[in-house]
Amino acid sequence: MARADLLISLIKSISKGDQLAVRRAIDGIISDERENKHHLLADRLASIVRENGEPTRRPGRILNDGIEHLLYHRMPERRLPEIILSQKNRAVIEELVEEHHRADLLKSYGLIPRNRLMFIGPPGNGKTTLAEALANELMVPFLIVRYEGLIGSFLGETASRLQKIFDFACQQKCVLFFDEFDVVGKERGDTHETGEIKRVVSSLLLQIDALPSYSVVVVASNHAQLLDSAVWRRFQIRIELPRPTQAQLIGFLQNYEEERSLKFGLHARTIVKRVSFDSFSALEDFCRDVYRRAVLDRQQDNARKITECKILQWRDQLKITKATSRHDA
Ligand SMILES: Nc1ncnc2c1ncn2[C@@H]1O[C@H](COP(=O)(O)OP(=O)(O)O)[C@@H](O)[C@H]1O
Ligand SMILES: [Mg+2]
Repeated sequence: MARADLLISLIKSISKGDQLAVRRAIDGIISDERENKHHLLADRLASIVRENGEPTRRPGRILNDGIEHLLYHRMPERRLPEIILSQKNRAVIEELVEEHHRADLLKSYGLIPRNRLMFIGPPGNGKTTLAEALANELMVPFLIVRYEGLIGSFLGETASRLQKIFDFACQQKCVLFFDEFDVVGKERGDTHETGEIKRVVSSLLLQIDALPSYSVVVVASNHAQLLDSAVWRRFQIRIELPRPTQAQLIGFLQNYEEERSLKFGLHARTIVKRVSFDSFSALEDFCRDVYRRAVLDRQQDNARKITECKILQWRDQLKITKATSRHDA
């Protein structure tokens, strides 16, 4: 049975019509049930929220034929509470979500929510996941720009395709995501490129500026140093997602165990001491390796042997990757 205070806050939020608070209260109930080891109930509640969310979250086919080759629509599944973030970053994102949920109040004071974000950091540390979770929190579609469709062999084409993307993003609320933005953004500085490319990039930046505040544009970059300051300044919120700290890696392992009733059989601290994971995505792959084997061997209750074995495999694997990247550098 959910705690009385959580139920009261849920009902209060529903009667006030505060969507953000409703979501928070539901998240609170789910994590409370998890803490009480009611995993089945927690999973069931989480999947009800996912499947029966507000109508805007299940828009069906939202891309039409004219735009399908330029955008990829992903139903946002990731949730903000699942992502490991520094307190500072979490606060920034939560503040932004609140601005959007309470946009009417802001509007009555002549204010609008911020809607231009840049995520910076090495691969595998949550740029795409955070953009998806943001779409989920805002309850809007997550639209990823497809560069293979965008960049035409004639530059004039690229500009008109870009226009199409932004026209689309103006018609409805969404999170519009440009991955590896340095690929597009840096062209401006390349002297050997024609003036036309520069015009395309300048027009992209103008379109970003002109996007109505109900749609959010997120650009991600592994190499922010490649972007010039005129590009940087456009983005009201810049979030750095660096390599994980030891404490964050430990937190990830603990969450992973808890969510799946899996026991690694070794303390999380020992695992991260023995393998130097350099991204959350590497650690997630490691966890999946252990889990997969543990399920097949029916060892979820104590997967110590499997964990030990995977630690050795991963140490070798990471050595190879590091040697290769030194060689490439
Ligand atoms: N901060 C994080 N917290 C939890 N999981 C993460 C985090 N960062 C990355 N992951 C996991 O690693 C995988 C790759 O992350 P992704 O968002 O694609 O990284 P990026 O876009 O920065 O390259 C995702 O599937 C996600 O589950
Ligand atoms: Mg990514």
